[in-house]
Amino acid sequence: MNPALETLAFALLEHPADSGPVLFLGAEPHPKLSDIPSLTAWQPLKPLASACENAGMNLVEEPCGKFSTILFLPGKSKDEILAGFARAHDFMAPGGTLIVGLANTAGASRFEKELSRAAPLQYSVSKNKCRAFAAGNSTPWDDVVLGEWRELAKPRILLDTDFLTVPGVFSADHIDPGSALLAEKLPPSLYGRVADLGAGWGYLSRSALGKAPKIARIDLFEADTRALACARKNLPVEAPASFHWHDVTTGLPEKYDHIITNPPFHTGQAKDVDLGKAFLSVAAASLKRGGTLHLVANRQLPYEAHLESLGLRSRIIAEDHGFKVIVSS
Ligand SMILES: C[S@@+](CC[C@H](N)C(=O)[O-])C[C@H]1O[C@@H](n2cnc3c(N)ncnc32)[C@H](O)[C@@H]1O
Repeated sequence: MNPALETLAFALLEHPADSGPVLFLGAEPHPKLSDIPSLTAWQPLKPLASACENAGMNLVEEPCGKFSTILFLPGKSKDEILAGFARAHDFMAPGGTLIVGLANTAGASRFEKELSRAAPLQYSVSKNKCRAFAAGNSTPWDDVVLGEWRELAKPRILLDTDFLTVPGVFSADHIDPGSALLAEKLPPSLYGRVADLGAGWGYLSRSALGKAPKIARIDLFEADTRALACARKNLPVEAPASFHWHDVTTGLPEKYDHIITNPPFHTGQAKDVDLGKAFLSVAAASLKRGGTLHLVANRQLPYEAHLESLGLRSRIIAEDHGFKVIVSS
């Protein structure tokens, strides 16, 4: 179990909240939290959202109203965490409390100090190499600091492009160089039905559609609902594209002429090469006869052997800046 979640749950038990409604931002199931009857859960990542639903939590697309207690288990980007503090503040009922859970390696003490710029801290608990720290709103939060954090929450346009992103999504501040290399190497001959696995905010899909006019439809599969919302805006409205909030590791609903992907290899903070391999297994199972898989990966990732074990032949067609582009069939 996520140790920051354990620490958050521990802090809540040590410092019981009043019985008012609870909002859990970045929710994950936990035996001591999942059955709080008044708990509303928000989780942008599909695998974790499904886990919350399976645990019987009340999951919402976008919370509304005010809450006495806000639990916040942030992602890993600085802007996302600070913007999340402001968002949590705006959901707090008068006399409410925000409790944040973060791993020490994710900068727990630094973000604890950040929160104390806006509001006096109520308590801090250290456990499991993580911290949970709390601030209430019985005294008003510093307006200037809140204003800074609200600014960070705003969608941004990437420099010299018209791509829109939001904090917290993969590569929120630049085009990923691996994806740029794959986009450059995608052949204009791609045709028919194409899937983009882990489509993020839509860079590869838009590049493929721009390059290969014989693509009849492209399906974007992405676990992060915030990235997918950006992808909807980053592809032209008339693009033959459909958008799926989907955990790719659970398989795809149909087969494809071509699959493109820059597979993830992290779960939260931790390196997770098995996640990348799971993407490739799903891709191999979802190609039509004669279909091709086009992927980019960090050079050191051992994907060729895995592709071979799946019965695919692979060729490295480009290498640059520590990345390799592989075509498999
Ligand atoms: C390396 S990024 C590539 C993003 C995008 N294709 C690009 O080129 O910018 C991998 C993407 O996979 C998504 N992802 C991670 N786990 C996933 C899963 N289980 N199912 C679907 N997408 C997932 C991440 O949110 C991230 O957007």
